[in-house]
Amino acid sequence: MYYSITGNVRRFVQRIGLPFREIAGPYEVVDEPYIIVTPTTGFGQVPEKVDRFIRYNADEIRGVAVSGNRNWGRNFGAAGEKIAEAYAVPLLLRFELSGTDEDVRKFNEEVTQIGEANAWRNRA
Ligand SMILES: Cc1cc2nc3c(=O)[nH]c(=O)nc-3n(C[C@H](O)[C@H](O)[C@H](O)COP(=O)(O)O)c2cc1C
Repeated sequence: MYYSITGNVRRFVQRIGLPFREIAGPYEVVDEPYIIVTPTTGFGQVPEKVDRFIRYNADEIRGVAVSGNRNWGRNFGAAGEKIAEAYAVPLLLRFELSGTDEDVRKFNEEVTQIGEANAWRNRA
């Protein structure tokens, strides 16, 4: 699941080769595990729409990846840290703008590991 204001996160998810969907309405509910990919807004904040989506769908979140800009110093990608801490999920990746090919590779590697861990839990 992703959210994008100026298009960077959208360009990132279009390159991952995995199914992706933008957060739609304000009360959207999903019934399967998801990873959230979000930008960071002013002073390290989680965008309001993302914050509300995760609150409605807290049970199914498995991880977070965050876009930001290093110009924001210690607030670089801070939305990702906030989500990871609040929902006790891993911060899979912090990337700049729409990410590099290496960022895409790392993201896929992390998602694969989460998938394997869940498959293992479901077997047990
Ligand atoms: C008003 C505004 C505030 C921002 N605040 C932060 C910030 O606190 N930390 C950060 O890392 N990036 C910040 N950014 C950068 C965006 O997170 C970054 O450009 C991101 O790639 C935008 O994703 P999007 O194009 O999918 O919306 C900010 C950008 C804008 C326009």
